[in-house]
Amino acid sequence: MSIAEQRTQAIAETREAIRAIEARDGVTRESLEAMRAAMLALAERAELFPPDDFPQKDDTSAQGLHELGEDDDGRFAMYLVRGGNHVDTPPHNHTTWAIVVSIRGRELNKFYERTDDRSVEGKADVRQTGELAVVPGTGVCLMPDDIHSIHMRGDGVKMHLHMYGVAIPRMTGRVRYDMAAGTYEHFLPHPDLR
Ligand SMILES: [Fe+2]
Repeated sequence: MSIAEQRTQAIAETREAIRAIEARDGVTRESLEAMRAAMLALAERAELFPPDDFPQKDDTSAQGLHELGEDDDGRFAMYLVRGGNHVDTPPHNHTTWAIVVSIRGRELNKFYERTDDRSVEGKADVRQTGELAVVPGTGVCLMPDDIHSIHMRGDGVKMHLHMYGVAIPRMTGRVRYDMAAGTYEHFLPHPDLR
């Protein structure tokens, strides 16, 4: 089998394993950890993901988003993200579960909690609660309402696998936060905020 054929098979097997975990255990912190284990096993096979097959088209944005597979109804969507050299997303949610693991390079994830009483429309305070540098062998699990941001620096090759309960174009009702302004806004599906 060619590398591409092996990759296609490995992606299909991983997506099937994750589909089975969700069917059996639902969406919980524990089931997401089982999904992360499946994603880590896939990411470990870096030879299946040669950088030349997944170009970085732009330094800063989502141009390096490569679709690896999703169900006909948009569920269980996997992407390879070829990271930029200088990336900072605002804090955001996904309205579906998410797993992030590294094939190559470092993607810093910061995590937040909302601290205001939600009494004022459009206003929100969020506070950072932790962070994790997603490098090979580590990964992030996010529940649908969890808030995170992504940060990348440097010109080294950065390739991460992102898996979501539904495909990015189908994530509706998402929220992003402006920490300096103390505001939030809903946003339409956007590939820059994965
Ligand atoms: Fe995200």
